[in-house]
Amino acid sequence: MEPPHGDDKPHLPSPSIWPVGFAVGIACTLAGLVVSRPAAIAGAVIAIVFGALWARDAMRAGKAPAVEAPPEALAATAVDGEPDEIERFPRNKFLELSTLGLGGVITAVVALPVIGFAVLPAFTDQEQATVDLGPMDNFPEGKWIETTFFLSPTLGEVSRRTAFVRYNGLLQDLPSFTLISNRCVHLGCPVQASGPRNDNQKKAVKTADAEISLTPILPANFSCPCHGGAYDTEGNRIAGPPVRALDRFKYSILDGRLHLIETYSVASVDGEGAQAQIHAYGRQGPGEHVDGPEGWLYPLQPQDLEG
Ligand code: FES
Repeated sequence: MEPPHGDDKPHLPSPSIWPVGFAVGIACTLAGLVVSRPAAIAGAVIAIVFGALWARDAMRAGKAPAVEAPPEALAATAVDGEPDEIERFPRNKFLELSTLGLGGVITAVVALPVIGFAVLPAFTDQEQATVDLGPMDNFPEGKWIETTFFLSPTLGEVSRRTAFVRYNGLLQDLPSFTLISNRCVHLGCPVQASGPRNDNQKKAVKTADAEISLTPILPANFSCPCHGGAYDTEGNRIAGPPVRALDRFKYSILDGRLHLIETYSVASVDGEGAQAQIHAYGRQGPGEHVDGPEGWLYPLQPQDLEG
């Protein structure tokens, strides 16, 4: 009796690491969406690369030339002249494609809602509400004015906000303003100007949106009463637990009136006034780092409703 040939064994595809890499990439992406944006991007890249390699191997396997069966095998499959039964869709191929398809469906079910929540807000609510702070004349050059206003007059007091506003003069023929939010970037307490305030010169200005209150102040710095956070007059942190500079408001000038838009976050400010170099970032919540290693590691936060 002839010993069996080693080649007689059915030829199975060698195990591949691509599915494992793909799964790791998906896991990193999902974890990254919660923990850190760079980790999510790295996970997506890993998933795409390994997924592509996996799909390429699967396609190659599908196109592999049929192995010519030895004559004995053909003889064994032929029964009394009946046509050979050809395995048109091998079981291993079926299982591989089923796994691939099922994995894709599960990935879509899990990932699509998460990606939708993370990405869609960027394409919606594009219209930005502005707050009319009145004529630019309300803000004498080089003077600080503590300005309180309603972000949304329909919401009333809960939308009352304060900005420290200073007109810096013209910069390349355009008016330059410093508008610093009074929300402490430690835990959100209201920051106050440390220095004299001229309450007797306080004035109320009625605009189309609401009534704005303007109080001249002379801050040496800004300080937070909650945990001792302190900031210089450009909003840079100088003491206490805050992790970055005070947020600022974007602004525009329309028909000679100062319009305040939304806040953005600031890591730090170099220089001052119109010449200041602002290291600006998208709006972050209190306590969130915006740069350095902490910014990479800090978990993503849902967008807050602060304007
Ligand atoms: S909330 Fe301002 S220092 Fe803590």
